[in-house]
Amino acid sequence: MSFTADRLLLFGATGDLSQRMLLPSLAALHADELIHEDLQIVGTARSDLDDTGFRNFAREALEKFMPAERRSGMAQFLNRLHYQPLDATTLEGYTELAKKVGGTGNGLAIFLSTAPSLFEPTIAGLQHAGLAGNDVRIGLEKPLGTSLETSCEINDAVAAAFSEDRTFRIDHYLGKETVQNLMALRFANILFEPIWNSNYIEHVQITVAETVGLEGRVAFYDDAGALRDMVQNHMLQLLALVAMEPPTDFDATAIRDEKVKVLRALRKVDTSETVTGQYRAGAVDGQSVPGYDEELGKDSDTETFVAIKAHVDNWRWKGVPFYLRTGKRLPERVTEIVVQFRCIPHSIFGSKGATTQPNRLVIGIQPEENISLSLMAKVPGLGRDGIRLRQVPLNIAMPDAFSGKTRRIAYERLLLDLIEGDQTLFVRRDEVEAQWEWVDAIRATWEANELKPKTYGAGTWGPSAAIALAERDGVSWHDE
Ligand code: BG6
Repeated sequence: MSFTADRLLLFGATGDLSQRMLLPSLAALHADELIHEDLQIVGTARSDLDDTGFRNFAREALEKFMPAERRSGMAQFLNRLHYQPLDATTLEGYTELAKKVGGTGNGLAIFLSTAPSLFEPTIAGLQHAGLAGNDVRIGLEKPLGTSLETSCEINDAVAAAFSEDRTFRIDHYLGKETVQNLMALRFANILFEPIWNSNYIEHVQITVAETVGLEGRVAFYDDAGALRDMVQNHMLQLLALVAMEPPTDFDATAIRDEKVKVLRALRKVDTSETVTGQYRAGAVDGQSVPGYDEELGKDSDTETFVAIKAHVDNWRWKGVPFYLRTGKRLPERVTEIVVQFRCIPHSIFGSKGATTQPNRLVIGIQPEENISLSLMAKVPGLGRDGIRLRQVPLNIAMPDAFSGKTRRIAYERLLLDLIEGDQTLFVRRDEVEAQWEWVDAIRATWEANELKPKTYGAGTWGPSAAIALAERDGVSWHDE
């Protein structure tokens, strides 16, 4: 049902995500007059606050997490905020909550940023209080389960109250500007699509490297690990956008139909095609940092690094490996996609002593948003003793190409889409389930083979086995 919500209800309103991302994003949308002046925002959580207490909490969050120059109109923004304390596990409080929200108005958008164990009771409470009708849509923050089975349970519980077209599953990577730019690059240019296949592409690398460690999320992370925390969602979404067929239209159904085909075409991975690691004490950005086990305070077999050689079994990608890797406490924070093209079929320069290297496209997603295509070029000179060729980059730095345009964080876009009801950048149930199916199979092979993560020093690119995983195919990771 299409409506622009004039009420937004935030569960987990005093949590970390709310402080760092949700409240600053909403304040930025307010400052830029992108949300309707009537939109009222009600926060709820267990903390015993009133409206004033929540506004103070929000003010502090904005001062901490929002650049001063974007904080205009903060007082009016704070006036939009209201708060109702709630124990989400019992039905009683929901009637009061519904009163505070003032019914569903012209449409209500709900955002659940709580532990997944609260999803089911919350949905029951919302139904009980009449906050789950056709004029209500719901946004769900990850993690949506820990396996296909638990994810299905959550999805079933949500589906009992909210139809799929009113269910907005968040993968914040889809809200990142450069991730969407991937679609522009592929489908708004004639250049790439004809060569975007196994005839011309030798392999693809997707790296999501982080310098941070546990960041206080001890219990959550130790139960999840890198495969479930990063690969199951963000990395598979990136892979799907790189590998999907051209959708017929830029709309939610067309795009998600194509992504899910890719996710279903992922080949089962063999244990020998994966490497897991766990960081030990080391140095990141010149600072000494403790090992994972020390941060955790006990021994653990949870992986903080994973590298996988994946395959998409379809005509387009036959024989093209997708090397994925992600980890905590790596030397730098970088998310990038590398498309390595094949060698030219015949070099006319061989007789002149010149060698050629295959082209490579690097799509930087963060922290640098740039696109760089390596091309062979002639080194200037008269060439009396032969021709010299060298690889030179054709570089586009997005912030320079679009200077003067506000760079928005993912949650600004995603919250606005939730309020306005655009599902294009949200993950459909069949996608999530295909993602889990693939990831569960990997975990099953690890368990069957009693695979334990190898150690790596914080500040390095993971265990040496990850380098070997690519090198045995003659491939180097992009940073090496
Ligand atoms: C989250 C993971 O989904 O993404 C975190 O749970 C991770 O462990 C984060 O740090 C990375 O997001 P970003 O936007 O900083 O790359």
